Amino acid sequence: MKLATKFIHAGAEPDPSTGAIMTPIYQTSTYVQEAPGKNKGFEYARSQNPTRKALEDALAVIENGAYGLAFSSGVAATDAVIKLLEPGNEVIAASDMYGGTYRLFTKVFEKFGIKFIYVDTSDVANVSKAVTVNTKLIWLETPTNPLMSITDIAAIATIAKKQNIMVCVDNTFASPYLQNPLDLGADIVMHSSTKYLGGHSDVIQGALIINDKDLRDKLYFIQKSCGAVPGPMDCFLVLRGIKTLHVRMKQHCENGIIIAKWLRNHPAVAKVYWPGFEDSHNYAIAKAQMRGFGGMISFELKDDSVAAAMKVLSSTKIFSLAESLGGVESLINHPASMTHASIPREERIKNGLSDSLIRLSVGIEDADDLIDDLQKAIG
Ligand SMILES: Cc1ncc(COP(=O)(O)O)c(C=O)c1O
Repeated sequence: MKLATKFIHAGAEPDPSTGAIMTPIYQTSTYVQEAPGKNKGFEYARSQNPTRKALEDALAVIENGAYGLAFSSGVAATDAVIKLLEPGNEVIAASDMYGGTYRLFTKVFEKFGIKFIYVDTSDVANVSKAVTVNTKLIWLETPTNPLMSITDIAAIATIAKKQNIMVCVDNTFASPYLQNPLDLGADIVMHSSTKYLGGHSDVIQGALIINDKDLRDKLYFIQKSCGAVPGPMDCFLVLRGIKTLHVRMKQHCENGIIIAKWLRNHPAVAKVYWPGFEDSHNYAIAKAQMRGFGGMISFELKDDSVAAAMKVLSSTKIFSLAESLGGVESLINHPASMTHASIPREERIKNGLSDSLIRLSVGIEDADDLIDDLQKAIG
């Protein structure tokens, strides 16, 4: 199936009890059983829910995986992956990644004896060098949040396979419209479904997609045992979001190209981070493993002061100043004080995330209006 057909029909079966074309919101906590252990496949809604099942089936289809699992948030999905590990295990993680993932790793899991080693994964050699006998997981984000750095998923997966190390890719920024990490050899794909999958800034949710049955069963056990499951209404919203993913992403990509190029030519802008520039690091890899470059763009001003950034951040009218990304509406964000505030300043600067960096989630409004808005704010 081509992408558009796949996104519209993924996991969608008319409801068996009524024929409803849209999966109903099964707002129930439990299911009547004929006799103990004799049921229609649903016992208790933390373990199974038909709306969630339709979404999980859809997640598997859109990421070319065999199994999908939905969680109450993106970080809950990440949390489940780390719970596969044991004290003494090591994780190699991207040094530039979503601040909440870094916080979960350092502030929650380090104290349970899991060691996290942060490297610039855009250079495969850095990952090879960091592998030890204790490495059990490589955690990638590509493109990264917020510096849009690209990692060669297939090359990392090749290194990992030789040593029996799992690879999990946070595919939130690309979405399955642009990139399918399982096809490139990853073991797990993670999403903050809050973003492009939901697409309308009205839901918090996470996802994992897997091919291996054993790994799926372990993750399902964690999902059921730890209980970070999404409600049926939220599952319905993400299912509905997926149906228009291709149309939205196409427009995000078109607007992204226009705005990235416009920013690069602006006299007040020092640097633009967007993987679609031919001279950007790992452009060839981005071009090979992605089907487009998306709508996420970060930039620095020539006046590299927080005050100058703050002026832009508080001046836009169409770009709303807010955390999050991937919705139809454009958002503007200051990673240092918002999404990445949990990373110590020293660490942040070391990884190239400056105080004045501004991140845009380019929505699907008219590109002329977006440029007009930025022009007025940047000057
Ligand atoms: C790349 C990335 N991964 C994970 C998350 C966490 O997802 P959630 O906010 O749904 O828990 C986010 C949130 O911004 C993100 O941008």
